[in-house]
Amino acid sequence: MKMNSFSRVGFILAAAGSAVGLGNIWRFPYITGEYGGGAFILVYLLAILFIGLTVFLAEAVIGQSGQSDVSTSFVSLSKSKNKNWKFAGFMVATGLIILSFYSVVLGWILDYVITSFGTLPTEAKVAGGNFENLITNDIGSLIVYHTLIAGSVIFIVLKGIKEGIEKINLILMPLLGLILFGLLMYAFTLDSFSQAVSFMFTPDFSKIDGDALLAALGQAFFTLSLGVGTILTYSASLPKEANFVKSSFMVAIVDTSIALIAGLIIFTYLFAAGAQSAAGPGLVFISLPVIFSGWGTLGNVIAVSFFLALIFAGITSAVSMIEPSLRFFIERFKMTRQKATILCGATFYILGIVALLSMSKSFGAELTFFGKNAFDIMDFMSSSIMMPIAAIIICIFLGYFVDKELLEQKFTKHTSSAVFHTWYLLIRYVVPIAIIILFLNKLGAI
Ligand code: PHE
Repeated sequence: MKMNSFSRVGFILAAAGSAVGLGNIWRFPYITGEYGGGAFILVYLLAILFIGLTVFLAEAVIGQSGQSDVSTSFVSLSKSKNKNWKFAGFMVATGLIILSFYSVVLGWILDYVITSFGTLPTEAKVAGGNFENLITNDIGSLIVYHTLIAGSVIFIVLKGIKEGIEKINLILMPLLGLILFGLLMYAFTLDSFSQAVSFMFTPDFSKIDGDALLAALGQAFFTLSLGVGTILTYSASLPKEANFVKSSFMVAIVDTSIALIAGLIIFTYLFAAGAQSAAGPGLVFISLPVIFSGWGTLGNVIAVSFFLALIFAGITSAVSMIEPSLRFFIERFKMTRQKATILCGATFYILGIVALLSMSKSFGAELTFFGKNAFDIMDFMSSSIMMPIAAIIICIFLGYFVDKELLEQKFTKHTSSAVFHTWYLLIRYVVPIAIIILFLNKLGAI
């Protein structure tokens, strides 16, 4: 085996580590809460199965065939070997942009890990005030936290795929599993557990509208780390004969299970205190600390564990956001890993500083353009524009510009031809149309 490639288990762990992140533990519960629970989850599961998994398999097959960076892999798999496919490499920039503000959010969470050792706020108003103060006022701390997170990410990826990324996942993923298991066990002992189960699994279709469908689809993409070249780049380090189909299903199963478990934990805790499920993005930062404060010292233990779990989940995702651009510079510009890491690390670090300053009272006005601050612009550009465009390009590429027989061969080495034909149909028609609708809707065109 090459020094710098994953073992198959290492790949599954790293891809699952990428997929499981703030998207599962922070974002999934709050949007499920906003869209009313059961029916949204059902739609979300369908989006994962038919759309997310389809694009996941697509990135995996391109990556494993190309064994290189995004640009090179696109060109080498295309029927015509047309060099213009190298422009698909733009998607690696999306990972860097997401990483800039993801690192800032991980910084907020680091603050929560630390403050959870002390007195927790007993009132929502105080908790809200604390959160607001942290993100708009406490620039010094935010810069320190962002620097610590960015530094850890850079340190890990400098060591490469096997010694850095595979190893950190080998350590953090089991720890994450352990903490979530403990938090779930505690949830079991609370009366509100059954209320959380019925909230999450009794569908009320009156809550589902176009917005909910699009939110489910967007979440499916984000949570599976699609459209930024992460899965493609990780798959390029997957041994050529490894079963990418089975691995992809396993990652999707792990990712979905963790989202559901996180949802069960959080809703049980919320309902135990009679709190609202529709609190939005502040759910984890404002509602939960107040609930934990009612549980005495145990509350502190749970709070620290919970926020640590978020950090662990987030770090393994963060390293996967920078890796596509590293591979890009290493393969195409023959840079050393060190040089590429310095270049990409500095880029996302500086963008992160801009993002965090743009949320502050002191610099917010200067860093707000067209009514959106820099943080929101980076979020919007990446998840609403660049990710969907990349996903459409991936579908069109495989559906129309790659030899069908070749793809069939690659799939049927590992799975039945029925699975291949279903996937092919989805990638040619269903998925691109669904994404185009999502895309236009988000842009406000329909
Ligand atoms: N899947 C990660 C999460 O759920 C986010 C992510 C997006 C990671 C894109 C890598 C690439 O938090």
